[in-house]
Amino acid sequence: MNKPSERIIRWGIMGPGKIARKFARDLPEVPHTELYAVASRDQDRAEAFARECNAAKAYGSYEALARDSNVDAVYIATPHALHQKFSLLCLSHGKAVLCEKPLAMNAMQVEEMIAASKVHKVLLMEAMWTAFLPHFQAAMQKLREGALGEIKSIEADFGFHTPYNPVSRLFNKQLGGGSLLDIGIYPLFLALSVLGMPAEIDARATFFENGADSSCTMHLKYTNNAEARLYSTLLQETSTVAVIKGVEGVLTIHPRFHESSSFSIEKEGKTEQFNFINRGEGFVHEIEHFCNLLREGKAESPVMTFEISRQLIGLLDGVREKIGLQYE
Ligand SMILES: NC(=O)c1ccc[n+]([C@@H]2O[C@H](COP(=O)([O-])OP(=O)(O)OC[C@H]3O[C@@H](n4cnc5c(N)ncnc54)[C@H](OP(=O)(O)O)[C@@H]3O)[C@@H](O)[C@H]2O)c1
Repeated sequence: MNKPSERIIRWGIMGPGKIARKFARDLPEVPHTELYAVASRDQDRAEAFARECNAAKAYGSYEALARDSNVDAVYIATPHALHQKFSLLCLSHGKAVLCEKPLAMNAMQVEEMIAASKVHKVLLMEAMWTAFLPHFQAAMQKLREGALGEIKSIEADFGFHTPYNPVSRLFNKQLGGGSLLDIGIYPLFLALSVLGMPAEIDARATFFENGADSSCTMHLKYTNNAEARLYSTLLQETSTVAVIKGVEGVLTIHPRFHESSSFSIEKEGKTEQFNFINRGEGFVHEIEHFCNLLREGKAESPVMTFEISRQLIGLLDGVREKIGLQYE
């Protein structure tokens, strides 16, 4: 018999798209896990994904996977607008939920998800994988140790270009499309991790013809006069670098900063570089953390806490208010 720390976690995946495929490739790197089931809106798509990724079960509906009593944990990788619906479905069936970012479309939905996790006493975590990557944890540790002295500013951008296609979930406003929720969330998460919640948010955006934001410029101001200048865009490639400046030095997280394997600190005329190795495609770290919490019977992560998810969605809501971006 397995020790409790070696209990096999049987996973289900909802939303067999691009990111789900990466997750499925990384899962075997995490000991004592199994990709057990996959669900799609379409039985053939579910079966094709199950064959490709060695899942035992393929369901042509999300509800059917939620009802399978063999599933311990579900990775929700649908478009943003469906995160809340499928998370609530899984939590109500007692399945632990690792839900892709953003956790939901707005703060009210996030509150309902947290409430459901508490009522059902089931683990819920936002899959903000950056929080678990070695470079990010080490950079945050350096800042906590005061490597830069007081932090005064952050600059971070995340941009890539894909031709506009209103049907694709990246642009489709009904599905939560646009740059802010998809990639703007990463510079916001960095600023939140380093400086906490701002006193003031200012933002501007450009829009596609369907009303989804094509780019978003964000300016966060803090009570100690620190500031964060952040940018997301689907219109062009950007350097995707993060530069954090303190009174005693500068920490640069190299591209792409949210999934990087290095950062450098420039201080007193010298530059020191720190290098890291991400396991698998980078998802191994968050999956391992999540599986351990599940084995320990926890309902909340001490790393990606409910409060951090609340603050993160609060920032996204705050920026949306400034740029006048409303979803149905
Ligand atoms: N952590 C990361 O690095 C990262 C990277 C990319 C994306 N993400 C997140 O992961 C989520 C999915 O992104 P993705 O790029 O993997 O998307 P994707 O390739 O479009 O896949 C989404 C999947 O959701 C399913 N789905 C269910 N209902 C749907 C609906 N009404 N419309 C469209 N699809 C629907 C689709 O499967 P069926 O039609 O077969 O049901 C589809 O395969 C997003 O929330 C995104 O923020 C995270």
